[in-house]
Amino acid sequence: MRIVLLGAPGAGKGTQAHILQQELNIPTLSTGDIFRKAIADKTEVGLAAKDYMDDGNLVPDEIVVSVVCERISQDDCKNGFILDGFPRTVKQAEELNKMMSADNIKLDYIINIDVNDEEIIRRQGGRLMAVKSGKIYHKNFNPPKVAGKCDVTGEDLIQREDDKEDVVRHRLNVYHEQTKPVEDYYKSHGNFLNINGIQDVNKVTQDILAGLKQL
Ligand code: AP5
Ligand code: MG
Repeated sequence: MRIVLLGAPGAGKGTQAHILQQELNIPTLSTGDIFRKAIADKTEVGLAAKDYMDDGNLVPDEIVVSVVCERISQDDCKNGFILDGFPRTVKQAEELNKMMSADNIKLDYIINIDVNDEEIIRRQGGRLMAVKSGKIYHKNFNPPKVAGKCDVTGEDLIQREDDKEDVVRHRLNVYHEQTKPVEDYYKSHGNFLNINGIQDVNKVTQDILAGLKQL
């Protein structure tokens, strides 16, 4: 199964991707996580992406597309994948389409997690994440069992650099300008599922799984 998760920054894409990959037994490919790891490892891609990310801007299409192209050609993606945070521009969606057509594969579902701007601002401030396990928490809405520690690995949780309020607001503007049109691009392609993201994390997962069965 090949899935794209769409939604504003903080809509819950990473949270749901982490749950769905276990439910569906396919890997998640989060471009944000790939770039954060590349920055930590000080690779060429990481160096190229860092300033864009810190400022809340999109990394240029050609860099993102080559990273995704390389990743989806790996063996563990043969039976499917969940794309979290890609595509984020219509150009990226078109390039993904080309990549997949060349391999004779296609997207099965496009899932849009719908959350309004006020809720996004509220959520981003309290987000915590575990770098190794990729698990995402929220101080109030989705807290770890032990404050500041990952439930899975016990590692220290961190706050992302781009979660400062002014950067969050800028990321939202970038989303409305450049990523919202991707929704329209996919609406006309069918298999588009709009999910109310302002519900309990488990309820959002249930709605997604129920929607996948229905389509
Ligand atoms: P990326 O890492 O993809 O960030 P994002 O899209 O801005 O999305 P977030 O990760 O902030 O939010 P999310 O939807 O995953 O929500 P989460 O589950 O964490 O990208 C970062 C940067 O990388 C970009 O700004 C850009 O520079 C670059 N980049 C990445 N991909 C790119 C691309 N394709 N092209 C160009 N540049 C790219 O949840 C948020 C919070 O809410 C958490 O605290 C969580 O616990 C909580 N929460 C989740 N669900 C619920 C719920 N149902 N109820 C209450 N709280 C909830
Ligand atoms: Mg994320």
